[in-house]
Amino acid sequence: MNKLINLKVDKKQRQKNAEACKKKGIILPTYEQMKDPVNKIPQKIKDELKGVGLWDIHPRNLFRITWKNEPVAKGGSYGKVNYMVLPPKLTGCKANIIGMVGKYFPTGAHKVGASFSCLVPRLVTGQFDVENEKVVWPSTGNYCRGGAYVAALLSCESIAILPAEMSKERFEWLKKVAGEVIATPGCESNVKEIFDKCWELRKTRNNIQIYNQFEEFGNPLWHYEVTGSAMSEALAAEMGTTGRYRGAVLSSGSAGTLGLSYRLKEIYPHSKLAVAEALQCSTLLDNGFGGHRIEGIGDKHVPWIHDVKNTDMAVAVDDEAPIRMMRLFNEKVGTDMLKKEGIDSALVDKLNNLGISSLGNLVGAIKFAKYYELTENDYVVTIFTDSMELYGSRLEELRNERGAYSERNFERDMQLISDIGIDHMMELNYPDRKRVHNLKYYTWVEQQQRDVTELNAQWYDHENYWNQFAKYGKEINGLIEEFNKEIGL
Ligand SMILES: Cc1ncc(COP(=O)(O)O)c(C=O)c1O
Repeated sequence: MNKLINLKVDKKQRQKNAEACKKKGIILPTYEQMKDPVNKIPQKIKDELKGVGLWDIHPRNLFRITWKNEPVAKGGSYGKVNYMVLPPKLTGCKANIIGMVGKYFPTGAHKVGASFSCLVPRLVTGQFDVENEKVVWPSTGNYCRGGAYVAALLSCESIAILPAEMSKERFEWLKKVAGEVIATPGCESNVKEIFDKCWELRKTRNNIQIYNQFEEFGNPLWHYEVTGSAMSEALAAEMGTTGRYRGAVLSSGSAGTLGLSYRLKEIYPHSKLAVAEALQCSTLLDNGFGGHRIEGIGDKHVPWIHDVKNTDMAVAVDDEAPIRMMRLFNEKVGTDMLKKEGIDSALVDKLNNLGISSLGNLVGAIKFAKYYELTENDYVVTIFTDSMELYGSRLEELRNERGAYSERNFERDMQLISDIGIDHMMELNYPDRKRVHNLKYYTWVEQQQRDVTELNAQWYDHENYWNQFAKYGKEINGLIEEFNKEIGL
């Protein structure tokens, strides 16, 4: 059986890591605590957090890697899952669309959970030397922000790698948190250049560990455990006894977030997973390639950790739609007009919770709801990964490029939403899925030296290979608990 995550313990190094953590007053949250912070995080930690800002570099903020943070900038405790339900009046489809909000994680994006889940198994097994090694975070943005942040909370150094054309906000913040920031050529979809940089670092640097989110199973595991649990609670709260959960529509960057759907499919076996991508780089739909403007997704390859055989649909979203919706939902003329049109004003004030890829996810969810002719009783879920906090500069660029936002823009953009159609979508049958799976060969076996027998196991031994998440979740929880005992705080 292929091991998805290596949990072999080096007792000596683990003890050294625990001593280093003790000196700095660091303790680690378990997945169980992230799922249920209200009941499982000790009061002492909640009290400590009363004096800590959401983004502060403070070790206790490890306990804020949860979907249940109180939505405040400082001193927040825990409550219900942060999510929004977008009504038919705004989306133009009959189904209810639930999006969980990533803004209230430290760093303002849910990727911090994936970063935690790639580093912590190494820390608590002693495979990583927290005092003498640096972590390299190859990313198109939020993963390396999350990684640099988690590493800073653990007092270890980071090297962040991301494409040069990512938003200014990401670079400015990273410069303050990561030891080193490396910009690779190109935009969002230039991931090959990031991988090449990783190979260069492997050859030229000592004492580094590279946690490549596109192949690290800690990434989907965190979403299977924590995001899946939060979404099932949000669904239960919204659906009552008459609602029907139909499926998750999620864009794929590293394919980590898809882990949430693997969990929901266990609970709701008839539900679907639709994976969204930019029409300008429609790799899953038709092996397409190209640059696009939906930061964080669609990287001209199929990640190693994507369970393709479990993916029911590919949905391509024209990047012009989220770009125009960003203006509609964030320019004052747009939000004033939305309120005038009768959209709940409290909801309109929260539309800035949706960053560009969140808007792309929303478009994908609308297409899914229209394709399957979903009704008022049906529920579709997605993720609002990060918020407009990270895209102020993009809004400014659009103002300069296209002029001030007017009522005419508003009318056109509302029309654009109501015209969202069922084009560029494909239900993936067996050969379609196999075609997508086969693309992994070129990236992972030819370029990145993965084993072809494991690639085949992903397909031919599908159940055994992919059904290991719950087992790993339990084991890592146990290892974190042991490690905390060893720290002894
Ligand atoms: C803004 C944004 N949206 C979507 C994603 C995609 O998430 P995943 O990598 O889990 O597929 C990312 C990933 O970094 C992101 O930064």
